[in-house]
Amino acid sequence: MKQVHFLINAILCVLCLVVVVDSRTHPRDIEALQDLKRSIDSKSIRPGSCLISWDFSVDPCDHIFSANFTCGIRCDFSLAGLSRVTEISLDGAGYSGSVTNITWLLPYLHTLDLSGNSLSGSLPESLSNLIRLRRLSLSKNSFTLSIPNSLGSLPHLEELYLDDNQLSGSIPLSLNKLSHLKDFAVQQNQLSGEFPFLGSLNNLYSFDASNNNFSSFGSNPLSLPISLISFSMRNNSLKGEIMPTHFLHMQNLQVLDLSYNELAGAITGEIFHHPSLQQLNLSHNQFSSVKSPSSREQRGNIVAVDLSYNQINGLLPKFLAELPNLSALSLEHNRFTGMIPPVYALKVSTASFQRLLLGGNYLFGPIPDPLKRVEPGSATVSLVDNCLYTCPVSFFFCQGGVQKSLIQCKRWHLIPKEFSLVNQLKA
Ligand SMILES: *[C@@H]1O[C@H](CO)[C@@H](O)[C@H](O)[C@H]1NC(C)=O
Ligand SMILES: *[C@@H]1O[C@H](CO)[C@@H](O)[C@H](O)[C@H]1NC(C)=O
Ligand SMILES: *[C@@H]1O[C@H](CO)[C@@H](O)[C@H](O)[C@H]1NC(C)=O
Ligand SMILES: *[C@@H]1O[C@H](CO)[C@@H](O)[C@H](O)[C@H]1NC(C)=O
Ligand SMILES: *[C@@H]1O[C@H](CO)[C@@H](O)[C@H](O)[C@H]1NC(C)=O
Ligand SMILES: *[C@@H]1O[C@H](CO)[C@@H](O)[C@H](O)[C@H]1NC(C)=O
Repeated sequence: MKQVHFLINAILCVLCLVVVVDSRTHPRDIEALQDLKRSIDSKSIRPGSCLISWDFSVDPCDHIFSANFTCGIRCDFSLAGLSRVTEISLDGAGYSGSVTNITWLLPYLHTLDLSGNSLSGSLPESLSNLIRLRRLSLSKNSFTLSIPNSLGSLPHLEELYLDDNQLSGSIPLSLNKLSHLKDFAVQQNQLSGEFPFLGSLNNLYSFDASNNNFSSFGSNPLSLPISLISFSMRNNSLKGEIMPTHFLHMQNLQVLDLSYNELAGAITGEIFHHPSLQQLNLSHNQFSSVKSPSSREQRGNIVAVDLSYNQINGLLPKFLAELPNLSALSLEHNRFTGMIPPVYALKVSTASFQRLLLGGNYLFGPIPDPLKRVEPGSATVSLVDNCLYTCPVSFFFCQGGVQKSLIQCKRWHLIPKEFSLVNQLKA
């Protein structure tokens, strides 16, 4: 019995020794952490922040739950050898300074998150030393200059967040090598020029480059991976060469936002029958027409369509009301004319459409009866700023704006003769 106890104690003691010994941090990792702390302006390290607890009088990984080194890092307590730092996630405590010139020799780091601070200077080329990095977030800082080519040599990178900085130039072609990348965010920077070929990123499902100044897709508009689920290039300077048809082959795409660009021409109907697309936003462009799809079949999963603030001519497309899952349709501020198709009104009265915005066009004629019976609050509908002969404010969808004047409507040269207001009133 005694022997057994002795054995158990001995084993426990050996284990506890192993744990104590192995929780010491690899000296190279300590150096890298010291480098990082030194590069931060000391004035920006305030009481209560993570970095103030980084006191190198104790071993970082060994004191991870003590009063010193209480936050910001994670270590891998491997049983063989010394502990390695595997994660640095600093708090957004307003740290300033430049991390450009440090060597980033942390070969076991898989997460680096410095988001929500005021770090400046260029992005460090040396980030490529983080060979096991899976997640890099430098969002919401003040980084400038271009995205370094070297980021393309992080073979395990899955998430890359560079949004909300002041980065310029384009996206380096080298990033097309990041074959594990799933989520890539560069919105809210000053990136410009030609969009690179990213067609090899076979795992990329979310890409956001909104609020930049990209002007073209270069010679290859089909340069995007077909794995994409969500793609946004809202508020760039994209011109006519990129069209919704370029997204038809992306069988996983659910969200497409190309609003606030300079896209022009016809919106082809096929995009509305896309097999997976749910949200399409082409608002604030210069599109001039919507073509009906060649097949009248009712299909697709599209739920929300926003074509507002374009220059789209013609009658309201009836096929839009035949899309089985459509519940929000905005066609505001275009040049639509003709009468409101009864099928639109029917969709609202049967609660299929929860939102129907038709304001700011040249629609005329009577308000379809089914619409008159829709209770306020049951749907969001607007018909203001059109050429409707009567749109009394007793109807909620007539509130918030008046109809255009008769003169404005008559002058509207795009109204075909057979739909003229005069003929309409006679009828
Ligand atoms: C922990 O940090 C405080 C200052 O934040 C320091 O006064 C103290 O000596 C440190 N503890 C150890 C064990 O070094
Ligand atoms: C980084 O190194 C470059 C080249 O040696 C130097 O010009 C620059 O001032 C350094 N930046 C900082 C913030 O130390
Ligand atoms: C477009 O992006 C610029 C910055 O790139 C920003 O200043 C502007 O407010 C954005 N416009 C819209 C409508 O989002
Ligand atoms: C965007 O790029 C165009 C050139 O393509 C340039 O004329 C324009 O000034 C840029 N806009 C901004 C806000 O930088
Ligand atoms: C479409 O984009 C515009 C501008 O970016 C935005 O204001 C609007 O809310 C978006 N529409 C939908 C349905 O998300
Ligand atoms: C579209 O409607 C069908 C049938 O009502 C439904 O099975 C499907 O989930 C809907 N799709 C979306 C994206 O809501």
